[in-house]
Parts: sequence; structure tokens; C-alpha cells
Amino acid sequence: MINRSHCLNSLIFLTVILFLGLAFAFPFSSRAQGSREKTTEARIAALVARMTPEEKAGQLNLLSSNFAVTGPTISKDYIGQIERGRVGGVFNAFGSAFTRKLQTIAVKNTRLHIPLLFGFDVIHGFKTIFPMPLAEAASWDTAAIRLSAAVAARESAVSGLHWTFAPMVDIARDPRWGRIVEGAGEDTWLGSLIAAARVRGFQQKGIGDPHGVIACVKHFAAYGAVQAGRDYNTVDVSERSLRETYLPPFKAALDAGAGSIMPAFNDLNGIPCSANSFLLKKILRDEWKFKGFVVSDYTAVQELIPHGLARDAKDAGMLSFNAGMDMDMVSEIFIKQLPGLLAEEKIKETDLDRAVSDILRAKYQLGLFDDPYKYCHEGEEKAELFSASNRAASRKVARRSIVLLKNTGDVLPIQRSVKRIAVIGELANSRHDMIGSWSGAGDTATAVSLYEGLKRRFGNTVEISYARGCGISDSSRQGFAAAVSLAAGADMVIYAAGEASQSMTGEASSKTSLNLPGIQSQLLDALAATGTPVVLLIMSGRPLTIEHEVNKSTAVLETWFLGSEGGNAIADVLSGDYSPQGKLPVTFPLNVGQIPLYYNSKNTGRPRDDAAEGKYRSKYLDSPDSALFPFGYGLTYTSFSFSGLRVSSPQVRPGEVLKVNLLLTNTGKREGEETVQLYIRQFAASVTRPVKELRNFKKVVLKPGESRTVEFDVPASRDFAFYNADMKYGTEPGRIQIMVGLDSRHLQGLPVELLPQAGSKQGEKVPVNIP
Ligand code: NOJ
Repeated sequence: MINRSHCLNSLIFLTVILFLGLAFAFPFSSRAQGSREKTTEARIAALVARMTPEEKAGQLNLLSSNFAVTGPTISKDYIGQIERGRVGGVFNAFGSAFTRKLQTIAVKNTRLHIPLLFGFDVIHGFKTIFPMPLAEAASWDTAAIRLSAAVAARESAVSGLHWTFAPMVDIARDPRWGRIVEGAGEDTWLGSLIAAARVRGFQQKGIGDPHGVIACVKHFAAYGAVQAGRDYNTVDVSERSLRETYLPPFKAALDAGAGSIMPAFNDLNGIPCSANSFLLKKILRDEWKFKGFVVSDYTAVQELIPHGLARDAKDAGMLSFNAGMDMDMVSEIFIKQLPGLLAEEKIKETDLDRAVSDILRAKYQLGLFDDPYKYCHEGEEKAELFSASNRAASRKVARRSIVLLKNTGDVLPIQRSVKRIAVIGELANSRHDMIGSWSGAGDTATAVSLYEGLKRRFGNTVEISYARGCGISDSSRQGFAAAVSLAAGADMVIYAAGEASQSMTGEASSKTSLNLPGIQSQLLDALAATGTPVVLLIMSGRPLTIEHEVNKSTAVLETWFLGSEGGNAIADVLSGDYSPQGKLPVTFPLNVGQIPLYYNSKNTGRPRDDAAEGKYRSKYLDSPDSALFPFGYGLTYTSFSFSGLRVSSPQVRPGEVLKVNLLLTNTGKREGEETVQLYIRQFAASVTRPVKELRNFKKVVLKPGESRTVEFDVPASRDFAFYNADMKYGTEPGRIQIMVGLDSRHLQGLPVELLPQAGSKQGEKVPVNIP
């Protein structure tokens, strides 16, 4: 018997589908008011219902244009494929005119008129280039980092882009790995703050903000732990270190609203991340409730074959898709294999619809269904790109990224008595290197080199002369004589040495030696032998092993690769117009043999103890085990000390907030900005804890002689929590050392007792929310 109400329901359902179908057949011409009233989800469901399996797979296909090449394979005939409805997004294409052209093909020529998503690696600026992410992390300034991402987003969004493959939030403790330059360094807590700041900067008020782009947090997960620092290599880390060290910055980025995520290239504990359902389903969707979309890395789906996980392309598509991958970057496996896999019931239609819906939702949120050209602003590009205010922002962030490592006899800032400066080194006269790797649409020609920056700053008041001395990788000393003679006749030498930013740092740039390349160190010896004070600027994308060079120089600054305004920013600092305040976000080891060397290590059962007798201690026979420069280290042009460290109570319970106070004093002769750092250590727990862990910091600007009380809130449940022996996140009662210092090595501490939660049994763990 036919059920009448069932009939009626079916009729209503069909009418709705027909209505929505018509709305989608003419989505932009009519822009019917009614369609706007439909909820996004209803619109997505109606659209998905009209799609063939091929059209669905098309939405999951991300191809590269040949505007920029960021991987080994080129997407062929991507324009023809757009025309045939086989493409959901294009990356490495930018500029309003070009993206408009591609978008027009998608919305005019395809059956369903679905707009394309345009992505690009906007890593540290689009046109106006900012410091490399590792350099920005040295600012310990989340407002500056957010500003950098916001400018990058504005410039991208005006150029037709919707989406950036950033931020890269991989915790990295191995400077042999070239991609350490793309992240925020070695610390999970600082890295999480920075990850959130970058997402907020990129996405501005949220996805759909006309001046923002969707962030894509990457590379999920533990890519920074590739064995031996060799790029793309295997990662084998425990679930504890995964959750404790590597995952929190991802969680922080998603909590800040990141709309997409990119699994890493690497094999993680036996399952490549691109087919790792523990990561992509259990953690990402089940635990973290992520609602955005997952995009593969470049050809990463296809790479499941050489990894040894998939037998062939079909297998790779099935494994990756079923593990939770939504979008396939460049492999073209999803577009070719998913329809067949669906027909064979190797993948589920509900999963396919969910993945397609996630991509369509992003397009809706961006506003592309209402206006597919919303981010194409041919008229505005000129005014926005590389504008004076964007350059000023870049200079501001660059100044804050510089770290002063040594300043013997206060040789810096440059004194008035200095009348002749010899600027030496290939890097000192390079615009190209200043902008760094992964530099978006940045234009080398518009960057300011160090030599130019110094000439602009000092004009005719100081004679600035340049000699190359040697190239970065040279083996010939031909240029030494001219450089040495210039140095001998000068009052100060400013020597820039380091790495070639484009070819030695970033992706696929792993190294086994972290010494200054070529004969740059020998040139330094020759310059220092003149007796003229040498200010050494290290331009690098990673910590280098520079103990000898530091000893030979009068002053040393780590200036990384600072972007379009690098030369001006360095001149600001050298001249004293701006006082350096940066702190290292990563340990500088003495030698490669110490790697991985990071501040928050475990104590071991036989910690080094110089007072103790005997050989059987955790140490090296041929090297100190300590760093050249520790995490959190960085000098200013003045000096600071602190006293009166105290805690509000010797005991604290979960849920309570401990107050930590100290009096910071500027003991030097100049105004300066100090970064006071707070670390903790729990002495005994159900699992061993690091000897120190950063939990907070405060930046304070003080005039000479001025003192100020610095107070930290330490919420016990938040700052003392960790994954206990049962892998539950929470606190355990015990003795905890609260430590404060101006870097991670020199700390003053006070013990406090973390008591059990009131009313709980002694020793009971107190679960709190995972950070
Ligand atoms: C490979 C890199 O690993 C990834 O970070 C980048 O976003 C893609 N290529 C796209 O260029």
C-alpha cells in the first residue's frame, strides 16, 4: 500500500531539489535573493546531489599552473581539465587577471559552474616579503607575526588568491633539516602561540573576509623529526612525543580557525601521513572535530607507491582517500581513480560526498558562489602590492627578528667616531638572498641589500665601501687582498656571511655540515687579523656552527633572511635607531654531532655533573654537551638584571592560579626591551618530565636605571598539565620548580608544591582540556 504522507514528502523533496537545481544552474546571473536565504549546508547538499562521480572527483583535484614551480611534476593541460569540470582548485597561479581568466573558464564553461579555489605558498609575504618564519619567531612578538601574515593575506587576496599553504608549524630540533627555516623553531609552547597568530593574520576576521585567505596548517605531522635531518625521510616518534611535542601547534592553529590542513610527506611510525587514518581521522576529525578540508602535499598521494604502502595508483587513491584525505595535489590520482573505486565499492559515496562538501563549503565561505571574482581586483593590485605601508610593516617586523649574539665593548651601536666602514661579503651586496626562499611573488630587484641599507642610513656622514672578498661557496681567495686592504683602512668591518638563501635553505636543502660554506670563515680570519673591529652578520636559515667565528668577531648578529626591507632593518639596528630585542627560537649547537640539541630535554638517570667523579655520565668525550647559544638567548644594547623572585604561595592546587613576581631593572645606559621568560619543571611524576619547559614570557621596555615589577599568572591546571602514564592529559601532584630568566640557560628558581585537587584522593590525576 502506498503511504500518502510518504508521497507528499517525496513531492516536497523533489520540488526543493528542482528549485535548488535551477538556482545552481544560474548561480551568478540570477543571484536570486531566495537562494541567499538557503542555508549553506542545504545549498551544498543540493549541489552534491546533482554531481556525477567524475564531477565530485574533479572537486578533489588540485592542479598547479606553471606560473611557479614548487615540486617535481608539472600539471599538464590544466586549463583543458578545468574546462572539462575535472579541477576543484589551482595553485601556483596568481594575479587578478590570470585567476579571473581561469575562473571564467570554470564558471562559464563547466556544467555546474562551480568556481575554482586558488592557492599559493604565501609563506612570508606575497609581494612585500617579510622575514623568514624562523626569523619572525625570533621576535617572540605575536602581534608582529600576525601583522606579517595579515599584510601577506591582503596582498594575496587582492591578487585573486583564496588560500595559502601556511603556516608551517613543524617543531624542528634538527638544523640539518633545511625546512627548519619555515617554522617557528624548537619549542612547542612558543610554536603554538605563533601558529595561532599566523592563522589569525592570514584569515583576518574569518574565512570570507575580503582581505583574508584561508590558512592551511602544515605538515601534519612530525615532519620536523625526519631522521638525520634528511628531507622527506622517515619519522618514528612515540605517541607521547607526537602528542606532547609535535601536535599542539596544529591544534592551536585549528583552534584559531585554520580552514585547511596538509598532511606531511613523511612516513610516520610506519604509515605515511598521506594515508594515516590515526592522524587524519582519529586525531583530526574524532578528537579535534575539525570541519575544514585536508589537502595532500605535492604528489604525496602518488608517493604512497615508492613509500611501499600502495601497490599502484588505484591502491594509493583508495588508501589515501579512505584514510581521510580530501584533496589531491598534483598526483591526479583522485580524479582518475575515485569514480572507479566508487563503482567497485572500494570507497563509500557518503565519504566522497563529505569530502566534496568540505571543499564546496570553503568556496561558499569565501563567497565565491555569490561572486567568483570576489578576490580579483585588477584596479586595486597596484595600490596594495608593495605599498609604502606594507614595506614599513616588513621593516618593523624585520628589525624585531634580528638577534644580537655578542657585543664586546659595546662596539654596537655604531659610534660617532666611526667614519669609515668596510662592508664585506657576497651576502652584504645581495638583494636576491635578502628575500629568502619561498618568497611568494617577491621581486628580488626591489629588495634592499645590506650595503644599500647602510649607504641610505649613513649618507655622507660615514664613508661606506664595499668589497666582495669571496662568494658564499667559493674556493678561491682571489678577492681576499682587496677586502683585507679595505678592512685595514676602516674603523669598522661589517662582514655578512652565511648561506645562499634560495639554494641552501628551505625544502630539499638538508646538510650534514653547518659550518659557514666555502672559505667565508677564512676570510673572517683575514679580516680579524687587520685589528679592525669586525661586526659579523650571520645570514642563514638555520643555526650554524659558528663558535670559531664568534670568537674571532667583536660583535655578532643573527640576521637570518629578512625580506624586502632587510638592508634597511639591519641598518636601523646597527646604527642604534632601533635596539635589538630578538631571542633565539632555536638552540645553536657547538657542533653537528650534538644534534638534536634542544633546551627542554630530559634529565636522564646519569645527568652530567661536573663535580661528580667518573666517566659514566650522559656527556660527550670530545665536546661539551651544552649549546653555543641556548634557546631564548639574545642581547640588547643595554643590560638587565632581576631580583626579588617570589611566588604567591608555596602550594597550589589544580584550578588555582599562582602569581610569580620579580623586579626587572635596566642596569645599562640605553633604553632597551627585555623578554623575561618563565619555565617550569616537575621533579617526579608518573612519566619523566623535561628539565625545563617554557610556559610564559613578557616583554618589557625600560629606560636606563628604570625598574618594573613583572608578574606572571601561572594557572596550575594549564601550565602544569602533561600526558601522564595512561596518556591522559592533566596534572599530577608533586614538586615543581618555577624558573625565570632572560634566556633558557641562566635561570633562577623557586619550588612550589602542586597539591591534589581539593576533595580528590592523593595522587589522583586531574584531566583538563588538551591545549
Ligand atoms: C611541497 C611542500 O612540502 C609544501 O609545503 C608546499 O605547500 C607544496 N609543495 C606546494 O608548493
